[in-house]
Amino acid sequence: MKFCYLIGYPVGHSMSAVMHNAAFQELGLDFRYELHPVKPEELGRFVSSTMRTSDVRGASVTIPHKVSVVSHLDEVDAVAMSIGAVNTIVNDDGWLKGYNTDGIGAMRSLEEAFGDLHGAKVVILGAGGAARAISYYLSTVVGELVILNRTFERAEELADAIIEYSECRSTISALRLCSEGLGRALDGADVIINATSVGMKPNIDATPIDSKLLRSDLLVLDIVYNPPKTRLLREAEAAGARTLTGVGMLVYQGVAAFKLWTGMDAPEETMMRSVEEALGVV
Ligand code: ATR
Repeated sequence: MKFCYLIGYPVGHSMSAVMHNAAFQELGLDFRYELHPVKPEELGRFVSSTMRTSDVRGASVTIPHKVSVVSHLDEVDAVAMSIGAVNTIVNDDGWLKGYNTDGIGAMRSLEEAFGDLHGAKVVILGAGGAARAISYYLSTVVGELVILNRTFERAEELADAIIEYSECRSTISALRLCSEGLGRALDGADVIINATSVGMKPNIDATPIDSKLLRSDLLVLDIVYNPPKTRLLREAEAAGARTLTGVGMLVYQGVAAFKLWTGMDAPEETMMRSVEEALGVV
């Protein structure tokens, strides 16, 4: 049997075990996915010992290790290196390579809902690990990308880094996440993405955008998937906007990780259904 782990702290709320074990079972693979709480001070030892053993095929990496794990790996894929964060590790005979599938997952989910994003104006809230991954991928496609963050300096630093990214094809700018910044950013926008943790359980009454700013011509993606329908999405729906939960991004980043570990196409419907059932969506 081969093992894949989720390395994070804490890991109790994760949907990943449900999703990957359903997929392994569907394809009859002798794989098992397990949650591994790893404290920050234990990360180096865990990666250099446990992760390199022959029965471990790889791992998903989550909060708070996505950035700090990079320095413990043998190799990091070029895009993940630009992003500065890894969410998937593959163990090839003790050689650990890191990837980032968060951006791939978000792009696929967005393009399914929106269609071709070329030329679109996209507003992303947040400058943490998830926002970074999504922003790098978006910058290769969209016309304009505006990054807003509560801590303005992080938004500015991310915008500056993306402008230097060799694959960037977009106009990039940064603003503070406040009503004035949002008002400016949303002018002419096609898509809004909440990549902050605002609205996540247990703070389900929080929203990063005043409902008065929401419009019917927007597509709103909230990467918070628990609860699946956040206050932001409920208010966007009430304003007539199209909405997208974070479930698609979660599943599609997992689909890409599954392929890296097994070399096989993931049973996507099984993964989607298992997550929706666990979240009580269906
Ligand atoms: P992740 O890896 O999930 O992106 P993270 O790196 O901790 O997590 O990033 C969390 C993001 O949510 C950040 O952009 C953070 O803003 P700051 O950089 O200002 O901390 C944002 N965030 C968290 N709580 C917030 C709040 N109450 N209001 C606004 N933004 C918030």
